[in-house]
Amino acid sequence: MVSRESVSVRAVAPSNIALIKYWGKSDASLNWPANDSLSMTLHHARSITTARAWTDAQSPGSHRISFGDAGTASRVPEKTTRFLEWLRAEVARHGSATGALDITTRNTFPSSCGIASSASGFAALTMAATGAWTGARTIADLENIGIDRAKLAAWARRGSGSACRSIHGGYVHWQRGASPAGQNVSSAFSRDDWPLADLIVLVDDKAKHVSSSEGHARAFTSLLMAPRVAALPERLRETVRAIESRDLERLGTIIEGEAMEMHSVMMTSTPRTDYFSEPTTRFLAWLRAERVAGNLNAWFTLDAGPNPHLICRPEDSAAIATRIKKEFPAFPVIEDHTGNGATLEAVDGH
Ligand code: DP6
Repeated sequence: MVSRESVSVRAVAPSNIALIKYWGKSDASLNWPANDSLSMTLHHARSITTARAWTDAQSPGSHRISFGDAGTASRVPEKTTRFLEWLRAEVARHGSATGALDITTRNTFPSSCGIASSASGFAALTMAATGAWTGARTIADLENIGIDRAKLAAWARRGSGSACRSIHGGYVHWQRGASPAGQNVSSAFSRDDWPLADLIVLVDDKAKHVSSSEGHARAFTSLLMAPRVAALPERLRETVRAIESRDLERLGTIIEGEAMEMHSVMMTSTPRTDYFSEPTTRFLAWLRAERVAGNLNAWFTLDAGPNPHLICRPEDSAAIATRIKKEFPAFPVIEDHTGNGATLEAVDGH
């Protein structure tokens, strides 16, 4: 019998696309990255997660999760359960955090398609669980008990590194600091400073064969990793200057080089890790030729998967999407743009 139920809260967390990548960890158990990264928070690609805590006086239940509003509830996977128990101990420092969680979650985009579902997923889960355990209905309620966005980001990071950047909006800088405790995640520019479009081209919808966690672990086997880490601070400063001056060509040139460098590390790791597929190469060759011919102004980046993200001006986005659909009718295109950070609200009726 359920003896106590908390209010139901809903967290909405956006995905993010890294312009300067997080690839390789100095401490895998803490998700302490080898280098700083910088991302753009998205708007339409989101995870929407509701949570409610309940306590059964007879038998303490285990957390349950359903995927999609009509999904059937099942036990939370072990890795996520470990994260939730770690999170519970952190939240408990700010008051009590009791009860098993009933969680419902869905993404507005297909998973494993090159959009970071673990980023938005863990950001939304962290906020929903924290809200359910504390009784907070909004981020302002959380701030009143000493849980601000910086803390939520630090917690979400333990679930998946890139999730920490989805708590904030605009352009987000994750600083590695000199020690795991010295990390900091903050918004360097707001969405309104420079809204840009992100066209995600699904050239290949098969799930990736090597998880990013496994890929991170291989990064330092590549001889390219040490020079990459040494060069990144200057590249990040250059990226910030490009955003400050709203110079898309400069930004585009940096992010393409950055994505190709990360994929070169992947391809020269042991075991070799290839996320590119044949359609990726074909699409990128077309993009380059079109740009050189002066037909479009868009630059790509790629995460740990085959699907390019094209960064362009919002006013050019629809015409570029039309061009892609004409040339590659089989590739779905998701049109997204710079967005704000994650939100928390009580679900209607509570
Ligand atoms: C290529 O955050 O998925 O998308 O911390 O092991 O969960 P874990 O890794 P994850 O790595 C993301 C890698 C990337 C680049 C990036 O988002 O910065």
